[in-house]
Amino acid sequence: DTVESVIVAIDGPSGTGKSSTSKAVAAKLGLSYLDTGAQYRAITWWMLTNGVDTDDPAAVASAAGKPVIVSGTDPNHPTITVDGLDAAGPIRTQEVTSQVSAVSAVPEVRTLITGLQRSIAAAAAGGIVVEGRDIGTTVLPDADLKIFLTASPEARAARRSGEVKGSDVAATREALIKRDAADSSRKTSPLAKAGDAVEVDTTELTLQQVIECVVTLVEEKRAAG
Ligand code: DC
Repeated sequence: DTVESVIVAIDGPSGTGKSSTSKAVAAKLGLSYLDTGAQYRAITWWMLTNGVDTDDPAAVASAAGKPVIVSGTDPNHPTITVDGLDAAGPIRTQEVTSQVSAVSAVPEVRTLITGLQRSIAAAAAGGIVVEGRDIGTTVLPDADLKIFLTASPEARAARRSGEVKGSDVAATREALIKRDAADSSRKTSPLAKAGDAVEVDTTELTLQQVIECVVTLVEEKRAAG
């Protein structure tokens, strides 16, 4: 029998395990994978390295079309380049993390990146897992399955500071809360749960349990046709 192409949208705030879950689910089910946060980080990194004032929305808007961002969608080896340069390392710096909310709030940036995301999803023949903040609400409102991951601020901060060597949980928690507040309150496609999304609270779950939960939801969707 033929396995139908399936589009899965996974949204939620930082530190809920979106990336780890999305990659693992995609790898298990043979789907492509797209980290949309990495694309916003990539454009932010380009702005910072090209002297664009990231606190000036007009400057960001007029430069938004300049960088060429390319995402590799193999869940076992996701890649991202900007103008042909490997951006995987530089997009994870503190500097990029602190400016990405400002850059991603600019409507011109969102229009460009959203277009890119839709064309990548359309080109993924076997289906794709797309993770972000506005995938279920704005980018792919017709996704076959929408998941909204949540976790307590404490759990999210602990997970994030575990990822960043030498970081302090209290400071990570403050920065994370600030970024989520900015992402949730911006005018253009804020972080939000779609009406038809399945909410999964991961606070008390291991990563393995979250992965199994999402895989089961995808399989149920596929079975229901
Ligand atoms: O998932 P992440 O932490 O790498 O995302 C970085 C930032 O990018 C996040 O703070 C908000 C923005 N973002 C967005 O506005 N829309 C998305 N679909 C994904 C990320």
